[in-house]
Amino acid sequence: MSVPIGIHDLSFATTEFVLPHAALAEYNGTDIGKYHVGIGQESMSVPAADEDIVTMGAAAAAPVIARHGTSRIRTVVFATESSIDQAKSAGVYVHSLLGLQPACRVVELKQACYGATAALQFAIGLVRRDLAQQVLVIASDVSKYELDSPGEATQGAAAVAMLVGADPALVRIEEPSGLFTADVMDFWRPNYREAALVDGQESINAYLQAVEGTWKDYAEQDGYPLEEFAAFVYHQPFTKMAYKAHRHLLDFCGTATDEDAIARALGQTTAYNTVIGNSYTASVYLGLAALLDQADDLTGRPVGLLSYGSGSVAEFFAGTVVAGYRGHLRTAANHEAIARRTPVDYVGYRALHERSFPADGGDHRAPAQTTGPFRLAGISGHKRLYEAR
Ligand code: COA
Repeated sequence: MSVPIGIHDLSFATTEFVLPHAALAEYNGTDIGKYHVGIGQESMSVPAADEDIVTMGAAAAAPVIARHGTSRIRTVVFATESSIDQAKSAGVYVHSLLGLQPACRVVELKQACYGATAALQFAIGLVRRDLAQQVLVIASDVSKYELDSPGEATQGAAAVAMLVGADPALVRIEEPSGLFTADVMDFWRPNYREAALVDGQESINAYLQAVEGTWKDYAEQDGYPLEEFAAFVYHQPFTKMAYKAHRHLLDFCGTATDEDAIARALGQTTAYNTVIGNSYTASVYLGLAALLDQADDLTGRPVGLLSYGSGSVAEFFAGTVVAGYRGHLRTAANHEAIARRTPVDYVGYRALHERSFPADGGDHRAPAQTTGPFRLAGISGHKRLYEAR
């Protein structure tokens, strides 16, 4: 039997500020039930003026480096769909902020919210080639839609860092994977736009098609039967989507839709995304963190993961939870990352949403707002300046 490879450590970070959906509902006159029940969101993480995908990614990865050191990390893969540069990988800034060794390859990956799963699978391939190496996978995104658009209520921001290696302490990633790609325009962001464009209903339909497609491919390759899974972790652009997806999967498989069983299979996976909002590439792994932090004992049980990225590419695969995993969780730190956020009112949120650096090549400093470990100090001569706090 081949050496198990998977997630050895998992840490996440989110933003300085949080906007409760109650404030958004009060501003736009929406019944709060639509947000709390209809889409399953209670609040959204809002980045400070001096936070971005790099500061969140570095903040997520720093505890992983503190625990495991840097000597085995020869690859960093940074997955994002809210990239800050068309040429330089955001991961190179993180590599510098964390003091990783120069003997390292660093690259950025993109395919909407699916990118981190590609990163994870590519990391497994690299580790398989040399079992002594570890790969640092970072998924970091700021989800930003137009103000006053339907997507606005599903915004959020967070980063997940995963250390991928042999004999993982948390989750062994299994073969096969069920794969699915279809050329659809459900969500996209042309290079000249800061906010994403989305056809909301089309994106839900495309997601459900992808659930079907990945499961069909997974089953054809003799993956685990549906009833074998202890839980299902879906990409959660809004947490209600996980329920839509799972009901669709059960219908597709001709299995009775028992609401209690669905709640048992999904309920613990939505706790972090409900209060953080959509974190694109990080979303499905925040779902995994929430499950591991809350479930009684998942030792030896396979968990189904469904990663979906608009456009679209999706993958369904199993991760089996490793004996002793609870001793390696970061539950207290995860709760603290959420609890430490400062509530922002609607006016403050709107100002942050509308804020951007002038693109004139001048020297522009960011106001000091974040209390996190890293900050974007400003932009000078078109160069982003980061610093540890
Ligand atoms: N109480 C409870 N539920 C309510 C409600 C209320 N007062 N008012 C509305 N709802 C329910 C609706 O019935 C609907 O539920 P359903 O989907 O189960 O039918 C849900 O809330 C959303 O209402 P809807 O009118 O469809 O909302 P919307 O037009 O604002 O669009 C999204 C919702 C998710 C499509 C929109 O936020 C969006 O475009 N998001 C970004 C894209 C995205 O996240 N795509 C997902 C795939 S990647």
